[in-house]
Amino acid sequence: MSRGISGNPSQKEMEEAENAFRLLIGDDSTEPDVIIDRFSQNSHCYEKVLGKMNFTGHVQCAQSAADWFPKNRQDVYILDAAAGTGLCGDKLGSHGFRKIDALEPSEKMLEEAKKKGIYGRYFNVMLGENNVDIESDTYDAVTISGLSIMVMKKLPRKAFEELIRIVKPGGYIINATYHKIFPKDGDAEAAIFRNNMKALESQGKWTLVELRHFTDYVCGEDGAVSVHKVL
Ligand SMILES: C[S@@+](CC[C@H](N)C(=O)[O-])C[C@H]1O[C@@H](n2cnc3c(N)ncnc32)[C@H](O)[C@@H]1O
Repeated sequence: MSRGISGNPSQKEMEEAENAFRLLIGDDSTEPDVIIDRFSQNSHCYEKVLGKMNFTGHVQCAQSAADWFPKNRQDVYILDAAAGTGLCGDKLGSHGFRKIDALEPSEKMLEEAKKKGIYGRYFNVMLGENNVDIESDTYDAVTISGLSIMVMKKLPRKAFEELIRIVKPGGYIINATYHKIFPKDGDAEAAIFRNNMKALESQGKWTLVELRHFTDYVCGEDGAVSVHKVL
């Protein structure tokens, strides 16, 4: 494959990466299982593709975790959900977090993550209507970086309830994603997501303690990190 000047990707490489990225994201009609399958098929080139799209979700997510746990990070027990190939786990490690498990439905993505040797336990599980086989009140925090937007928008409330269940009261659920799904007048397709966030707050299950807006999440679009405290 040809490369542009100074090692910059050529136009052809960028087009290939953009096509692969669009395939991974899917659209509103793409079934969750199909999205996971696409990640499996592209696990070998995932980091390269996301790198070319200037993805920063993992950096921002780990930064928020570091902000909320300023001390004793080596003792903080984290589940990295939708862990993928371990980009977020890797960043958490560089902030001094040492006790990190991974939850990821694509076995192939998990295989890549295993090569990094950063996670303790691996859960090859999908978030959805299913129970997650993890004891209640296990973690100090759950991180979610870049969970597929089409999945996030339709994720059933049960998925968030399961994450809340496995986090200790007073712990945090830290979610880095597109900013456009948070505002009331934001992406109309994300109404289910916003309703779930609010309903869980009304039910006294968690409370939003921070919504940090940032630029350049991926492909030049804005991102946000939401931090919910489990009650
Ligand atoms: C864009 S990658 C993000 C990976 C990693 N967190 C990062 O920051 O690079 C999205 C990941 O979400 C996973 N995923 C898709 N549907 C999911 C679900 N229902 N529950 C958990 N993970 C899911 C995919 O398999 C994929 O690995």
